[in-house]
Amino acid sequence: MLAIRLTAEPERLDTLVLPVRPGVADDASAEPVPTGVTPPDGIVDEVAALIPVTRFAGRAGDLHTQWRPGGTPRRLLLLGIGDADEAAWRRGGAALVRAVKDETHVTLSLPEGIASDAVRGLVEGLLLGSYRFRLGADPDAPALTDVDLAVADPEAYEQAVTVAQTTARMTRLARDLTNMPSSVKNPQWFVEQVAEAVADLPGLTLRVREPEQLAAEGFGGILAVGGGSASGPRLIELDWNPPQADTHVALVGKGITFDTGGISIKPVPAMKLMRKDMAGAAAVVAATLGAASLRLPVRVTTLAPLAENMVSGAAFRPGDIVRHYGGMTSETTNSDAEGRLVLADALAYAVREIKPDLLIDLATLTGANAVALGTRTGALYSDNDQLAEDLLTAIRAAGESAWRMPLPNDYVEHLGSDLADLHSAPTQGGGSVLAALYLREFTGELGERWLHIDMSAPSWCERDDVELTKGATGWGVRGLLRWLATLD
Ligand code: BES
Ligand code: MN
Ligand code: ZN
Repeated sequence: MLAIRLTAEPERLDTLVLPVRPGVADDASAEPVPTGVTPPDGIVDEVAALIPVTRFAGRAGDLHTQWRPGGTPRRLLLLGIGDADEAAWRRGGAALVRAVKDETHVTLSLPEGIASDAVRGLVEGLLLGSYRFRLGADPDAPALTDVDLAVADPEAYEQAVTVAQTTARMTRLARDLTNMPSSVKNPQWFVEQVAEAVADLPGLTLRVREPEQLAAEGFGGILAVGGGSASGPRLIELDWNPPQADTHVALVGKGITFDTGGISIKPVPAMKLMRKDMAGAAAVVAATLGAASLRLPVRVTTLAPLAENMVSGAAFRPGDIVRHYGGMTSETTNSDAEGRLVLADALAYAVREIKPDLLIDLATLTGANAVALGTRTGALYSDNDQLAEDLLTAIRAAGESAWRMPLPNDYVEHLGSDLADLHSAPTQGGGSVLAALYLREFTGELGERWLHIDMSAPSWCERDDVELTKGATGWGVRGLLRWLATLD
């Protein structure tokens, strides 16, 4: 990860970045922004002169590079900051790290009196836009290692930088876990990654259930889905329990380390990316590690049911009836609707044993998420207006996107089964909505304090896009951490 340093006395001025804002009136030209630390003599005039000749508009993320052979700085960058809010700076930070490839070190002179939110956006943009995932050597690895932020009063921004660094580090961890090929990433591997991260953070407790324990306690959904794999299922229970906490949140994340569809096997194109089917588990675990790292005064208990949905002689079959934790049964006519089976166990366990104040789950649950909302937006479900509003606000402020969906009662009848309490994969009705309605059946007395997000669409992106790098996005970590920070 890039090293970010706040400084009032920038030393290495080889590459200097100066902020430029759009003109105030419609036809006014862009203008340099006064900075907290004065740039070398003549530089501000040079920027002012460059703006008209390069037609620099100053929109967020606009960049112009000026070479100045023999000069100090040797390279001058104009960075557009648009309306200078957190999102604009996030965009600017991401654009900057994508543009600077050959320099090892950059100094960015920040506007006088810049808001801490803006600094947070900038740092997240720098650290997320520069993310890369590669196994083995990376011949095109960018040279950039250090970014100095020049401000008059560095202490004023230390907290914002720390929060942004933690948020980005955890988002990058979620991306790493999700990008990892499933030949490496089996349930036990995932457990080991979490155990390593936990070892660095005091105050966290990790409990892992293996198949024997899952069987002894009746986690029939996790065992059914994981039964076809040579790598057995696990259930992670991670607890951040600070002494000052009043609110207790349970987070649940779908952790299918690969989804073949099982006996109801997926066609080739649909299976291609199914190593990402644990992105929900990665997000809730990373957010919990983030809460512990920032010492947030809220209790978080995180459950990640981990299983590989494989095809084999030991796999569960279409038509099998699964008995979940707590005793509810599901008729499973489609083994590709596996996510809801493992989540049902975890939700039922949370309701009966964890007894949190609020229950949130994230899951790459249905292809229908993208059909309804496109590729960047999660489908958010809750019967609790306040909780839905709070999460939506946090998610948007963090630079992620979700849209609230209904839990319509006229679909509930489709969940009926002649053989079991519920039918896990009805064929009528909207797929993402029905999956949410199915999960709600396991929330018991916490039904009004539960919220579910189907995040299969935004968990992945097909191309670099602002702070997202092609591949896993780490969706949910930023929004969850923001929301957790509002609780106490
Ligand atoms: N993991 C998939 C959902 C998914 C699809 C995630 C595409 C990301 C991209 C899930 O387990 C699944 O297979 N869902 C089925 C449900 C159906 C069988 C009721 C689906 O969406 O088709
Ligand atoms: Mn599936
Ligand atoms: Zn799945």
